[in-house]
Amino acid sequence: MQGLKFYIETYGCQMNISDSAYLKDILINKGLRESDSLENADIIFVNTCSVRRSAEERLEGRLAYYSQIKKNNNLKIFVIGCYAQKEKDNIKKRFPAVDFVVGTRNITKISKIINAPLNEYIFTDMETPEYIEPSIDPFNKYRGFVSIIRGCSNFCSYCIVPYTRGPEYSLNSKKIIDDIKKLVDKGIKEVFLLGQNVNSYGLDTGDIKFYQLLEKINNIDGVKRIRFLTSHPKDFSNELIEAIASLDKVVKQVHLPLQSASDKVLSMMNRKYNYKHYFSIVENLRKRLPMISITTDILVGFPGEDEKDFLETYDAVKEIEFDKAFMFMYSPREGTASYNLEETLSIDEKKERLKKIIEIQNKITVEKLKRFIGTFSSVFIENINKKNNGVFGITDYGLNIILKDFNLQQGQITNVKIESLSGHTLIGKDIKL
Ligand code: SAH
Ligand code: SF4
Ligand code: F3S
Repeated sequence: MQGLKFYIETYGCQMNISDSAYLKDILINKGLRESDSLENADIIFVNTCSVRRSAEERLEGRLAYYSQIKKNNNLKIFVIGCYAQKEKDNIKKRFPAVDFVVGTRNITKISKIINAPLNEYIFTDMETPEYIEPSIDPFNKYRGFVSIIRGCSNFCSYCIVPYTRGPEYSLNSKKIIDDIKKLVDKGIKEVFLLGQNVNSYGLDTGDIKFYQLLEKINNIDGVKRIRFLTSHPKDFSNELIEAIASLDKVVKQVHLPLQSASDKVLSMMNRKYNYKHYFSIVENLRKRLPMISITTDILVGFPGEDEKDFLETYDAVKEIEFDKAFMFMYSPREGTASYNLEETLSIDEKKERLKKIIEIQNKITVEKLKRFIGTFSSVFIENINKKNNGVFGITDYGLNIILKDFNLQQGQITNVKIESLSGHTLIGKDIKL
């Protein structure tokens, strides 16, 4: 196996990006090398997503393409992640060129599988939670990804994730702290904490709470910045608001998916909060941190969403003024509770609603960003952005910024004056304090 070249292609959320980074580490430790292209690889890993049908369709196109490439060489194809978990028995039938199917709780088995190909080719056991070591962001070696809670037990009625990733389990806080210290020894400066619902961290195991974990990480020498995803409104505590406000290393940004502002739809979605509760969190966050950046996910076109429900969401988007929103059109997922609900909107109606909400949010995003013009921020440098002819970084409110100073290096944290705006990106100048 030594010397074989691998290529990892990743779809889906940050959790998949982090899992792929972990996989890359274990493969390199086993003596494999990363291939510069898919076409030159001996082994392809595709880390997959099933959250919407469109994600699956794109993937199925890729699988057909890999099958083509395989005709000319000895390629091995691994399908891993959420689609692998969900479609376990169908993948080989539809794409015979696929060699191995590895689900979301079997990643640590991969090194064994490639070292000594086992007789089995489907590994989708869900019973045993895995400890996935924190990994370094493949695109920025100064950032560590730490999955603190894996799986999801919330069962929002539209969502496939609890089925593809299994029930939620928190990882031990002492181990998390030790692992972050090891990452710091390797040079990381930013810790990115991940979970489908970080706010319920520790509740399953009786470990410390999420805000206490933030406090402990904030005390680690060498950690300069802390970010986290995703917060569920049903578990967002006042202690957490206080921690975000008072801990100096925590980036002042919260990703708090609203989905819908209609209480009827929220209840059908099984989100376990109403709009009033959601809005009170936003108010409390802004009372404590007036400039905080709040981002969200919006899901339009849920079965039964009538014009009035949609307008409630539309008005809420105007009322709250999110800094950024990821907006989606409902996609029925087989096996979820809402799959059995009859869809009440045509594709065109769903598209129309999505278009309306994207249009208004785009305007709001630009207006909201203007509040930062003339202010100062520390900026964590990501990379040189050739397209925008500048250096790309992230502010202490978690927002994208371009700096026209080419002496800056990835991983550097510098002080910047924010001067203008280009599209949805802030433009600033290093003030070399
Ligand atoms: N754990 C996160 C979200 C994970 S999925 C949370 O609870 O917010 C990311 C987003 O995809 C969701 O917030 C939702 O807006 C969207 N999504 C999930 N299932 C979907 C579906 N069936 N159709 C369309 N969008 C969906
Ligand atoms: Fe899906 Fe809801 Fe879990 Fe988020 S909290 S992953 S939307 S079931
Ligand atoms: Fe997709 Fe799985 Fe993430 S379904 S959004 S990759 S948890």
